[in-house]
Amino acid sequence: MRKNYIAGNWKMNKTLVDTQDFAINLSNKLPELKNTEIIICPPSLFVYEMAILTKDTAINVGAQDVSVHEKGAFTSEISAAMIKSTGAKYCIVGHSERRKYHNETDEIINQKLFVLLKNELTPILCIGESAEERENNLTDKVIIKQLSKGLKNVELSVPFIIAYEPIWAIGTGNTATPEMAEEVHLLIRNWLKENYNEKISQTIPILYGGSVKPSNIEELLKQPNIDGGLIGGASLEVDSMREMIKISENIEV
Ligand code: PGA
Repeated sequence: MRKNYIAGNWKMNKTLVDTQDFAINLSNKLPELKNTEIIICPPSLFVYEMAILTKDTAINVGAQDVSVHEKGAFTSEISAAMIKSTGAKYCIVGHSERRKYHNETDEIINQKLFVLLKNELTPILCIGESAEERENNLTDKVIIKQLSKGLKNVELSVPFIIAYEPIWAIGTGNTATPEMAEEVHLLIRNWLKENYNEKISQTIPILYGGSVKPSNIEELLKQPNIDGGLIGGASLEVDSMREMIKISENIEV
């Protein structure tokens, strides 16, 4: 039985005060949760504050990126041990914005997965094709390449999360249809089965990301292989998060 995940990726949004307000307001208004795991990934500067303010609540905290290095002279970089020491449990890796604006390759992402696992942080590995790749029927090929290279020599065990985020759906309002997303999620699950085993393939949550919001999350979550959302824009407001959490709780998992 896989839970539903409602994971917020704040990207480069909010200040310290906004973070505090959000943490307090969401914690106060949280319904009791049976089926849903909530994760908030604020900017790294506010990860600790979020972790402290949500310590005894159902809210889990993650970072948005990690350095490949363990420590030392790497100005501005943030290590996995630092993230771990804040109380955060998760870390996004390989987001398409990191791949695009910071030249992150599958090889770098692979190294980041190793440092996260070594520090007992749960990676949220992002993969996804561009609009052009989809138009040229390359989606499956791209997904399999990102999985094979990103997970090279990684001894996958739970907890570990994969997020399928088609680049053309991120921040555009163009969500993939539930059927389109489900097709890729099934491909990922089958790949996990072939390259790891049945148990891994059935237990690893696969989240969908790309313009997820309260009005479309239900149909996405109803798909058998979609286990939640990695949510950007719609994760910035407490009310919209709360609505998505409520919807998730009503869905059978
Ligand atoms: P979006 O972003 O929900 O704003 O499309 C999702 C993401 O990039 O993780």
